[in-house]
Amino acid sequence: MTHKLIRAFKGLLKPASPPGPALLQRLKLRAVLALLPLALAACGGGSDSPSTTSAAETVTTVPGDRVQLGRMIFGDINLSEPRGTACVACHQPNRGFAGNHGGTFGVAVGSQPGSIGLRNAMTNSYNAFVPGFSFETLDGVTEAKGGHFWDGRADTLALQALGPLLNPLEMNNPDRKTVVDKVAASSYAPLFQQEFGSGIFNDTEAAFTQIGVAIAAFEKSAPLQPFSSKYDAMVRGQASLNAAESRGMTLFRDTGRANCVGCHQMDPASGKPENSLFSDFGYYASGIPRNTAIPRNADPAFYDLGLCGPERTPPTLPATVAPGVTLDNFCGKFRMPTLRNVAERPAFMHNGFFRDLREVVRFYATRNSDPQHWYGPVGVANDLPTRYLANIETAKAPFNRKASDGAALSEAETDDMVAFLRTLSDGYVAP
Ligand code: HEC
Ligand code: HEC
Repeated sequence: MTHKLIRAFKGLLKPASPPGPALLQRLKLRAVLALLPLALAACGGGSDSPSTTSAAETVTTVPGDRVQLGRMIFGDINLSEPRGTACVACHQPNRGFAGNHGGTFGVAVGSQPGSIGLRNAMTNSYNAFVPGFSFETLDGVTEAKGGHFWDGRADTLALQALGPLLNPLEMNNPDRKTVVDKVAASSYAPLFQQEFGSGIFNDTEAAFTQIGVAIAAFEKSAPLQPFSSKYDAMVRGQASLNAAESRGMTLFRDTGRANCVGCHQMDPASGKPENSLFSDFGYYASGIPRNTAIPRNADPAFYDLGLCGPERTPPTLPATVAPGVTLDNFCGKFRMPTLRNVAERPAFMHNGFFRDLREVVRFYATRNSDPQHWYGPVGVANDLPTRYLANIETAKAPFNRKASDGAALSEAETDDMVAFLRTLSDGYVAP
């Protein structure tokens, strides 16, 4: 499956002769519409026939050698140790640009046999819209925002891209030189030299940095932010949601109850899909239950604290924070991802605790009314040390509800919410 996928993806990676700028805009749109369904179809299984591959190649209209280069690096299975794990293994077009390399633990499985990571692979779609990491103080409240990864530790996509290559639980290269040597020996080495200079491979540090620059160009390209979902068609006035989807959207926007929109921002009335990124890229401790399938969680004293590590060095608070705010206030908080393509992902939340989207919605609806169901008999959030439990969000709906208020959504409303979330998947084709 993974190999088929990579082959299909590689088909899409083939460089096309760059068209002129006027044509570009139109082609871009066509590419956006055409690429994704093809990628999805090609990944569906049993379809790695030559005809599929060549069809994919003909629609490769994404401009720019640097983007093409980035795509080739993204799909290169030689860049892992042992070989076989490309970026695309954990960021699959038919898995909402996420996926855990086939792992069923909710977290990513690396290139080394038996290596199971700490976190769920995030979607890499719509990443061009993730702002750099910052602390913002408004009305006496300091909040963290932006940055790549669940803990915001990479400020730019170019920096982010370099992380997985050296992560022992992901692509597992021992050092930068190993990666650069592999790129220098690849079929796309001449393109790399064309982009970054003929002597680039003589300077390991510079070459390694440019690998990130090339991947970032690809990450920012149109096919990874296609705005081609049913929801987008609706925003553009080209489609209507069905009854269940509409009811789900109303619930999503009901600030007094489900209040998904209170964090996962959207604005369908604007007519512009870019105003609906379904995330404000803020950080919250949501009280996600502990995923006991994660090997590191076998140690009861181990906690993934997001902004407070262990995958990052804690950020430095600026002098402008609200009085009394310390780093402790941010421990256990994770960055909100976009909900675009969420229905296609195999696992949800930073620790992949959920494997079923409906269960995620049940969690939001019943975290406060039925904590025993999520955390066991004690009914207290179980994936944070006691000293940070106060960081768990209780101010915003639906997390502000009292247990006696009952579930925020009925079973039927939960189904409607899921129906709406499904309209956020790219590649919608009008019936
Ligand atoms: C073995 C699985 C795996 C591989 C291979 C992998 N990733 Fe990831 N990716 C992840 C995981 C897990 C996360 C979240 C990590 C974290 O938050 O600590 C992630 C996060 C990301 C993000 C952040 C998205 C966001 O919203 O901030 C991007 C972008 C990304 N990966 C791109 C890449 C690129 C580029 C490569 C190849 C160089 C790659 N990934 C290889 C598993 C993988
Ligand atoms: C208080 C802010 C907030 C509210 C309100 C909120 N979310 Fe979230 N959402 C988050 C954060 C933060 C995460 C990531 C949490 C983590 O992994 O620790 C998230 C993650 C998710 C995910 C998983 C995404 C993925 O890629 O794994 C889904 C699905 C989701 N939210 C749906 C909803 C729905 C549906 C609602 C309304 C019922 C809602 N959210 C309300 C902040 C919020």
